[in-house]
Amino acid sequence: MTAQNSPVSPVTWKEDRVLLIDQNRLPKEYGVVEISRCEDMAEAIKTMIVRGAPAIGVAAAYGMYLGAREIETGDRTEFLTKLEQVGELLRSTRPTAVNLFWAISRMLKTAERTSGSVEQVQKTLLEMAKTIQAEDLQTCKDIGDKGLEVLPATPEKLNLLTHCNAGALATAGYGTALGVFRSAWREGRLGRVFADETRPRLQGAKLTTWECVQEGIPVTLIADNMAAHCMKLGMIHAVVVGADRIAANGDAANKIGTYSLAIVAKAHNVPFFVAAPLSTIDFELSDGSKIPIEERDPVEMYQVGTTRICPVGVEFYNPAFDVTPAEFISGIITEHGTVAPGELKHFQAKQLV
Ligand code: MRU
Repeated sequence: MTAQNSPVSPVTWKEDRVLLIDQNRLPKEYGVVEISRCEDMAEAIKTMIVRGAPAIGVAAAYGMYLGAREIETGDRTEFLTKLEQVGELLRSTRPTAVNLFWAISRMLKTAERTSGSVEQVQKTLLEMAKTIQAEDLQTCKDIGDKGLEVLPATPEKLNLLTHCNAGALATAGYGTALGVFRSAWREGRLGRVFADETRPRLQGAKLTTWECVQEGIPVTLIADNMAAHCMKLGMIHAVVVGADRIAANGDAANKIGTYSLAIVAKAHNVPFFVAAPLSTIDFELSDGSKIPIEERDPVEMYQVGTTRICPVGVEFYNPAFDVTPAEFISGIITEHGTVAPGELKHFQAKQLV
């Protein structure tokens, strides 16, 4: 099967089930996994068939509906108790991306607020999952366009670097960081994307480059340790990355390696932007030290494909994310515009979140 439309949509509701693009098989092959049960959705999030903060939020929303549909009771109170358990299962999949928790909580609130029979609540939950998905797509397009306003004005076309994959595959479609690149490409302002390969899981090498190639956007793959060299040579005009959770003070968690990239960017006076929807901001956390960081299986580090790359006897540390302190971030690009990290509270004051 090949992708019919670009940008792609990693999550699709079809008739009575969810279709997920299997991101573990890209770029070698394009395959789709069918999900009809909540437990399978939880497993798909855990094993990263679907990944990227907004995309796992959308997937979890559909997972909530699938779970709701499995609850066999006509009693509303019992239904809501069991739905809370569905939420618990989905929450236990990945700890860092706040969009997951945000989507589950939005689905639970929807259930509580919907009057009528259990059947009516189930129906409304499916509609809400579709709404969350549609909103995310529009939000990403808005982020893309807002990002254009802050990209540096250069006589030549822009060379923009990103880390991991914050593209269509990581969202409902279009992407956050890659959304900015897509908008710049549409406006004729983008010269080339530089994609960090993003060890250990290689989302940059496998997914970001795949998305660019699908759309004919020029892309150069670099190893993670090449960014400083490229910046020193003046090859990069700006860095734009996504985020999994942003604390109230603007500290931003994103894929491991983002922090070192931000330090390198600052050292070379290259603007460093974080592009994320407001649903990625966690105002309950005052700063980034409180963001839970997922640790993943060491196999991601010691094995490349089927080949072990280090001797037996080595120990491992495999944090999936790091936190970039606000002071290294030039601006946070959201669907409502770009703000300095310290200004996020304005969104709360305006009751946008
Ligand atoms: O572990 P992953 O692949 O889910 O990590 C994804 C990232 O770190 C993305 O940059 C982030 O979720 C933003 S996606 C728009």
